[in-house]
Amino acid sequence: MNILSSVTAPHTWHGDALAIAIFANPKASNDQSEDSAKKALGLSESLKNLDIQVLGCTLTDLITESEFTGELGASVSGRVGLDYAIRKVILIGLGDPAKANPDIWRKAAAASVKWARKEKVKTLALAFPAYNQDVSVTAQAIAEGVLLAAHHDKRFKSKDANPFFLEQVEILETDPELASPAIAKAQQTIDGVILARELVSAPANIVTPITLAETAIAIAAESSYFTAKILEQADCEALNMGAFLGVARASDIPPKFIHLTYSNGDPQRKLAIIGKGVTFDSGGLNLKTGVGSSIELMKTDMGGSAAALGAAKAIAHLQPTDIEVHFIIAACENMVNGSAMRPGDILTASNGKTIEVNNTDAEGRLTLADALVYADKLDVDAIVDLATLTGACVVALGEDIAGMWSIDDAWAEAIAKAAKNAGEKFWRMPLEEPYFDQLKSVVADFKNTGSRAGGAITGALFLKQFVQKTTAWAHLDIAGPVWIERESGYNNAGGTGFAVRTLVNLITG
Ligand code: BES
Ligand code: MN
Ligand code: ZN
Repeated sequence: MNILSSVTAPHTWHGDALAIAIFANPKASNDQSEDSAKKALGLSESLKNLDIQVLGCTLTDLITESEFTGELGASVSGRVGLDYAIRKVILIGLGDPAKANPDIWRKAAAASVKWARKEKVKTLALAFPAYNQDVSVTAQAIAEGVLLAAHHDKRFKSKDANPFFLEQVEILETDPELASPAIAKAQQTIDGVILARELVSAPANIVTPITLAETAIAIAAESSYFTAKILEQADCEALNMGAFLGVARASDIPPKFIHLTYSNGDPQRKLAIIGKGVTFDSGGLNLKTGVGSSIELMKTDMGGSAAALGAAKAIAHLQPTDIEVHFIIAACENMVNGSAMRPGDILTASNGKTIEVNNTDAEGRLTLADALVYADKLDVDAIVDLATLTGACVVALGEDIAGMWSIDDAWAEAIAKAAKNAGEKFWRMPLEEPYFDQLKSVVADFKNTGSRAGGAITGALFLKQFVQKTTAWAHLDIAGPVWIERESGYNNAGGTGFAVRTLVNLITG
């Protein structure tokens, strides 16, 4: 599928289908006059031309008949006769212009693509107003929405039940000189999001610690700015990574500690991005049993590492200069066998801290502990870790919002800004030190879990014990948003690739 932009006006374009995005007129609801629908939408001159000259007033007819007011998320579609230059049209509401943000363009573009799929459209044009008069931001958001919605993961289907015919999407009335680079940037970024989605959606018999290591090596092989270092179990033993190796112990698949470095130019900023890479979380001896424990979804427990690798892939394309980024993944499985860590076992992490494992299902923080100690030694300006760490975070914030904890306000704000531009939601949560009392251990330095109350916060406080030197650290609990069971907005069902776009903005911004 090809995305292009042109200065073509809607009334001179011809092809299978046209998607038109329109703001609502907030004054419309007070307007009782007969022609209120048309006035409410304030059809632009070029849409009026299209309606009258090309579509035999189909637009006006659709708007009046359906009482379409351009409300956010509303859409109405129709067919035009066989002899017209355009066969099908859809109108998509952008809502109140005062509440506009680029994510609305992503979602409107996604709605256009989903409709085009259903309608077996091959050539689609988009007549969308510019967000904030900014052609680049608009084109990037539209292209991202198109590419995200167009991606359906069919790798594990024996038959394609949902074929896609769309060959070309053209963004109309847009200066290609500004739009083309923005579309290219969208393509490069979404390539990373799709990698993350596919890593998360693939089952744990396909994506193992070995696969994650191979993925990192493949990214490094494509770009001279990357180097990949894989620490094997023996290397991790030499570094005394007892917490990580404690989790990995009961798996037949070897653990891989992945360190992918991007360095381009004279680095003005050095970042470390750590992703939880538990390719399957059975819970260990504290086995995930019963409904609600979601053991069948625990292939997604490497969502943090998928986000890190997805961002790395995008960065390989985007090639930002004067920056150094370390992507770190302590990849393993949390399984059960005779050498599994037992509840009550004491592990020693690579910073010498001793941990009483009172729950083997709080394994993510054990793997991250040694990854954080490793990152802390790299002399970076800031560390961010991403992890499907707790069900408690999902209880607190729901499935669409990730939790953010940070010891540094400026770093938290930088992440918040990157996330906002990406249209990804994070909510800052407190590092409530008194709750650390829950992790007091009789025998070791501390335990790995506290009570159910504040479970996402004690998870963050546990991680904080492994950051000593670096003054800017943030923890992102993405357990909710990495996966969706049913399509929504620009996400199709399955892995969402959540946080890749935020990370890309954070690195390039
Ligand atoms: N991987 C899970 C967290 C999770 C839960 C991710 C649901 C996605 C959906 C994590 O390893 C875990 O099991 N956490 C425990 C922590 C508890 C034992 C303190 C949890 O949330 O129940
Ligand atoms: Mn677990
Ligand atoms: Zn887990």
